[in-house]
Amino acid sequence: LVLIVDFGGQYNQLIARRVREANVYCEIVPYKKALKRIKEKNPIGIIFTGGPASVYAENAPTIENEVFELGIPVLGICYGGQLMAKIFDGKVNKAPSREYGKIQLNIAKNKDIFKDIEDKSVCWMSHTDFIEVAPEGFEITATTDNCPVAAMENKEKKLYAVQFHPEVEHTPFGKQFIKNFLYEICGCSGNWTMHNFAQKTIKEIKEKVGDKKVLCALSGGVDSSVAAVLVHKAIGDNLTCIFVDHGLLRKNEGDEVEAVFGEKFNMNLIRVNAGERFLGRLKGVTDPETKRKIIGEEFIRVFEEESSKLGEIDYLLQGTIYPDVIESGTDEAAVIKSHHNVGGLPEDMHFDLIEPLRQLFKDEVRKVGEELGMPKEIVWRQPFPGPGLAIRVLGEITEEKLKIVRESDAILREEIKKAGLDREIWQYFTALPNMKSVGVMGDERTYSHTVGIRAVTSTDGMTSDWARIPYDVLEKISNRIVNEVDNVNRIVYDITSKPPSTIEWE
Ligand code: XMP
Repeated sequence: LVLIVDFGGQYNQLIARRVREANVYCEIVPYKKALKRIKEKNPIGIIFTGGPASVYAENAPTIENEVFELGIPVLGICYGGQLMAKIFDGKVNKAPSREYGKIQLNIAKNKDIFKDIEDKSVCWMSHTDFIEVAPEGFEITATTDNCPVAAMENKEKKLYAVQFHPEVEHTPFGKQFIKNFLYEICGCSGNWTMHNFAQKTIKEIKEKVGDKKVLCALSGGVDSSVAAVLVHKAIGDNLTCIFVDHGLLRKNEGDEVEAVFGEKFNMNLIRVNAGERFLGRLKGVTDPETKRKIIGEEFIRVFEEESSKLGEIDYLLQGTIYPDVIESGTDEAAVIKSHHNVGGLPEDMHFDLIEPLRQLFKDEVRKVGEELGMPKEIVWRQPFPGPGLAIRVLGEITEEKLKIVRESDAILREEIKKAGLDREIWQYFTALPNMKSVGVMGDERTYSHTVGIRAVTSTDGMTSDWARIPYDVLEKISNRIVNEVDNVNRIVYDITSKPPSTIEWE
């Protein structure tokens, strides 16, 4: 285990990703709790992240000196490195010129932490302060034109500090550098692979659950699907999945879920076709928040009704993943988000939780899915909101409108895939603004619906930019939708980022 001490920098999760990619397991801890956790967990290495503060600022994040006396190697990145310099009585100062972007790094020797890295390499810098003078006992191992101490080390104490950011793509040797720290300095063995994870987890679930019963609300999304298949491998038919088809899914989605989980994996799957029930309750409702609320409530009702037919259930399976449970170094209260994939299960259900993916990042979840032989369409599925197409049909929901969204969305997905853009674009779908406009088809005037295309790039859905889909791909999508979907005569492309917009239209 390697512990990453979070000082509030923007790249913290990226550092963790890089460590995991090097097949080393790591966890992120907020700086305030770091020493305690380090003592509890006895990691093989420690990494300090960057952070927005200046080490001399009042209330600047810091850490007890004791952390350097445990004999555990420490790598400080940017703020983390400056903090190390300050604690050991070096000098940190405002840099005469702020360095931002790709900068040439002059490396003193290509060994240890710089093993297999060229003397003159490009690195990514983003800092206002810098280490001006290295503390006594520290050797300067790299410089830039503006940084007298771009890297320093105290080999004896196993302390390493860098001003640049090895975790970002713009530092081409960064992965090698992080690997060097993990393997050359910390002596990691690199056995964190998703193959090993899956084997170990299946064994643990088997032992923990025995022949007790587990219930899962399967949505068909990546996380709940991978969690379900993993648990199914461990306990077989003692897992029951309830899949609520609320009639607001994309084209063929319900059948696909049934085919994969019910037939291919032969799991105990209960599909509840509750479309009419949901549409009945949504009739005449136009307010977005009311729609969401109705769907959430109805979902819980259906789920409760079905689960109550099953008799005694001991555990509830949830697809919680690591980004949902990371405590941030910047949160004063260190709130842990509680997250429900299905949009809120009943509070008063008395099950113990099983969350087998709690340690994993999204891309690791996908790898586990591949390890388990799950189809690509599920493993690489784009995010899809719990309320489904209900929040993509603006205003009142009708079967006719749902059909337009379903058909146009299927065309969009097909063309995006054909163009090879399906992994690049984070989320893409069509929406139906509640508006009609005039058009001409053949020699006839038409008065039909407008379909909006939404396609965004993002990493976590919190912010996003509109995807620059090539014009010829957009042209093809537009032609096909207008020609193949009844009652549509106009296509618009949403070119707003989030913020100020949101990804979904409701
Ligand atoms: P917005 O529209 O808020 O969406 O920019 C951000 C991401 O969250 C998804 N989303 C939801 N997911 N239940 C979900 O499980 C919901 O109610 C919900 N609303 C939005 C949205 O698709 C996007 O990926």
